[in-house]
Amino acid sequence: MSDIYYEIILEHYKFPRNYGKTDNPDIRVKDSNPLCGDEIEFYIKLDSEKKKIEEIKFIGKGCAISQAAASILTEIVKGKSLDEIKELKKEHILREMGNPYLGPSRIKCATLSLKALKLGVYTYLGQKLSSEESIL
Ligand code: FES
Repeated sequence: MSDIYYEIILEHYKFPRNYGKTDNPDIRVKDSNPLCGDEIEFYIKLDSEKKKIEEIKFIGKGCAISQAAASILTEIVKGKSLDEIKELKKEHILREMGNPYLGPSRIKCATLSLKALKLGVYTYLGQKLSSEESIL
């Protein structure tokens, strides 16, 4: 890994942004990498219209790449709409990491947080849809 990727990853790993939990999150989701058991858990508060991410925090355990990617992802998605989250691709995170070359197993480290976030958003939207349907 070249110095620039290494520096970005190490800096976020040592000083993760938005690390912690929030009270009463609208979305709380946890996911893990089945290959190693590393985990990421997000706590997300939405805006008053329940359309945008107002606050996002995470906790997790695992390798430097997975934890740095989670930190970077929180910075990318704060203020974004749930529709924009659905469109996010792994390239968005990799770009912010300095476009490191990562082999297949390391790509899973870098995308664990995105996988968790999308799981949370799609689950939330699914639940919202079913509760809206139930009151019609
Ligand atoms: Fe487990 Fe990287 S080694 S997510």
